[in-house]
Amino acid sequence: MEKYEELMKIAKEASKNAYAPYSKFNVGAALLFEDGTIYKGVNVENSSYGLALCAERNAISSAVAAGQKGLIEAVAIYSPSTVMCSPCGACRQWLHEFEKGQKIKVVLEAEDYSLFVKEIDELLPFGFRL
Ligand code: THU
Repeated sequence: MEKYEELMKIAKEASKNAYAPYSKFNVGAALLFEDGTIYKGVNVENSSYGLALCAERNAISSAVAAGQKGLIEAVAIYSPSTVMCSPCGACRQWLHEFEKGQKIKVVLEAEDYSLFVKEIDELLPFGFRL
């Protein structure tokens, strides 16, 4: 669990770098792979509002771009604007894409600062697969 506390810290730090001038809703994500590598992501908004990119998908894209071929162990998600910043449906489906039986953990911060950990399959049952 200490590992996930550390992951949440990284997500919190990352959230400071979000580009969210329209919603003012900063989000940071920290994606941990089974080899211990961590990739960060933040939300990036656009004046064409619908083009906003979520922090989680940004982190996954960074990992893919870096050539990471391992398994995702966990993702911590944080926003200073809310407790338990839960991933949107699109990000759940993106995480589901990389769920290969290893049970990706989604790590959120509850109101009492304790960590709330759920498997992606619990958050997105029957996710789409080709
Ligand atoms: N956002 C994320 O970064 N991740 C989510 O899972 C949900 C929403 C961002 C998108 C937008 O920039 C802001 O939060 C408000 O919707």
